[in-house]
Amino acid sequence: MIAVGDELRGRHYTRVNDWSKDELRQALDLADALKEAQRRREDHRLLPGRSLAMIFHKPSARTRVSFEVGMTQLGGHALDLRREDIGLGERETIRDTATVLSRYVDAIMIRTFAQADVDELAEHAAVPVLNGLTDATHPCQALADLMTIRERFGTLSGVRLAYVGDGNNVCRSLMRGASKFGMRFTAATPAGHEPASEALEDTRRVAIQQGGTVELTHDPREAVAGAQAIYTDTWASMGQEAERAARRAEFAGFTVDEQLVALAADDAVVMHCLPAHYGEEIAEDVLYGPRSAAWDQAENRLHAQKALLALVVR
Ligand code: CP
Ligand code: NVA
Repeated sequence: MIAVGDELRGRHYTRVNDWSKDELRQALDLADALKEAQRRREDHRLLPGRSLAMIFHKPSARTRVSFEVGMTQLGGHALDLRREDIGLGERETIRDTATVLSRYVDAIMIRTFAQADVDELAEHAAVPVLNGLTDATHPCQALADLMTIRERFGTLSGVRLAYVGDGNNVCRSLMRGASKFGMRFTAATPAGHEPASEALEDTRRVAIQQGGTVELTHDPREAVAGAQAIYTDTWASMGQEAERAARRAEFAGFTVDEQLVALAADDAVVMHCLPAHYGEEIAEDVLYGPRSAAWDQAENRLHAQKALLALVVR
């Protein structure tokens, strides 16, 4: 059976920055080991009898399925709490829900709108809280992304990653993760859609300390030139559906298609957190093409989150 240390038990994962580089590396190493154990169908029931509560205020396929299947594979169980059932912050306060759930379950996963709600839940929960996406961040996605890049290139340090599109939750968490591992990260966004993180300067400082870079541009071709990984995400995130038509116009020229990919390094991979919108942020032939790492990324959500759970649940 895979051995897991106790030092991260009880920790929250509400944002990439909650964890140091070494702690994230521990999660990535365990994720690789769990992936191999699952491939060999070796017993890795590290969380027998443990339960994970999952709170979803937005739709999900990957996050829901990977957390639930992950808990089952670890020998535990996950339950899906619908908004109309628990009414987080509506039927009762976030603090009350955090206090009660902590008496039943061993960890809580939440996908919602405001990062502040995740922080409030974590403040009051006696069990680990894992962030399954907010308007501001998507740290579980970033962990699976780092796992995927490391799997392809054998390292993270120095790998050139071009993010093309909306400087949103996915971009921000990825930028944080990339900086901690000394990657060379460039985001190309239309003006007004930069990863306007108050923490941009801090992220850049961390990247430089680690021998990496964080650059912003409005030119996708400049970002992609020589890149080893090209990453994109939807132009209209969950909650922005009404802006979709306007955003389609604003993001014109930012589609990851064959012509753009041709500017990247010969061994470049294309990444997408999914769900995809063909003809908008990505071309279908690219997502299904030989350079696509998107399906590995989706799979790696399972292994990365199993690692998180196995590290933090008591
Ligand atoms: N990438 C991702 O989080 O997918 P879902 O929205 O389907 O969970
Ligand atoms: N930026 C997207 C990511 C979906 C996984 C959203 O928030 O909808």
